[in-house]
Amino acid sequence: MSNDVENVTPARIHDFAWGMARTATLVTALDLDLFTAISRGADTVDALQKNTGASRRGLSGLLTALEASELLERSAEAYKLPPDVEKYLVRDSREYLGDMRHIHRELNFRIWPQLTDAVKEGTPRTEIFATSADEVWSQITPYMDALAAGSGRWIAKVAEDVIPKQPRIFDAGCGYGGCGRSLIERWGGSVHGIDRESSVTLAREFAASANLADRAEYQAGDLFEQDWGGPYDVVLLSNILHGYSPDRAQELLARSVSALRDSSSVIILNEIVPDDTETDPVGAFFSLQMLMTSEGYAHDLAAYHSWLNEVGFTTRRELRSPTGPGTLVVATKDGVK
Ligand SMILES: C[S@@+](CC[C@H](N)C(=O)[O-])C[C@H]1O[C@@H](n2cnc3c(N)ncnc32)[C@H](O)[C@@H]1O
Repeated sequence: MSNDVENVTPARIHDFAWGMARTATLVTALDLDLFTAISRGADTVDALQKNTGASRRGLSGLLTALEASELLERSAEAYKLPPDVEKYLVRDSREYLGDMRHIHRELNFRIWPQLTDAVKEGTPRTEIFATSADEVWSQITPYMDALAAGSGRWIAKVAEDVIPKQPRIFDAGCGYGGCGRSLIERWGGSVHGIDRESSVTLAREFAASANLADRAEYQAGDLFEQDWGGPYDVVLLSNILHGYSPDRAQELLARSVSALRDSSSVIILNEIVPDDTETDPVGAFFSLQMLMTSEGYAHDLAAYHSWLNEVGFTTRRELRSPTGPGTLVVATKDGVK
């Protein structure tokens, strides 16, 4: 046995194997809204027990696991939050991401135990893209909508030059409409979205409560079958192409070209695109997630470029989302510019 092999330990492997416990620990802390409680001053076990109603034994174990995972810090008896936890996991924060718990609870905890079968057979365990799967989407869409609205505010800064004033926007697979809504709040203009019935019903309600009902119109149906209307100044494809095979993703891009005015742009965002190290765990795990739930894949940027090019777009910009994981690609319909 070489020295290298003799000196190794299984520590890294054990650590990897406990990955599921990490996810569950975080989800439970979010279910109990523990980080919010600490941020509001309930920072001891006694105060947290009163606040959450959880058992002493369970809570102590959970706090220890969170501290060991560096999601909490402690001095004497008082817990405090590291800055990233304070910013993203406290409900009062505008950047709150804690509703990610729904994706884990409603989807990941159910599908990941089926990975072995999915890998053996190469087929999804549960289709959530091609069919409506309402009960799953109704749980996870509010979180995605918050992410989408945040991305809309971000695009407002980084894609300002491709969005004209008072744009006509098409939001393909709009979910609850957060992305398009935040763009027309900033730019004026109007948005037209297509998604399943259950999503557009809520998209209409959200638009009405933001006083945007007269500028936001939603249509129920299948993106591959419905007429998208147009011509538009912007087509948004947010968090959708990675759910499809290369052929179908390219078909959505071809439909985007047809729906756009000349020289206007498609904005592709929140797609999980692996980074170019080929060792990006989020991209790689996401592809497995897509294997279990769809025909999709975490397509790489080279694939996006070639599809865009083939259907008649010129890529203008690619950026990683600052709140990641997710990538933005802006491409303009060929002809001018
Ligand atoms: C991951 S969600 C993203 C929603 C929204 N664009 C966002 O960024 O928050 C994907 C959405 O695309 C919708 N979708 C996927 N394929 C579709 C299709 N063929 N027709 C209509 N909607 C579709 C799903 O119903 C779902 O709401």
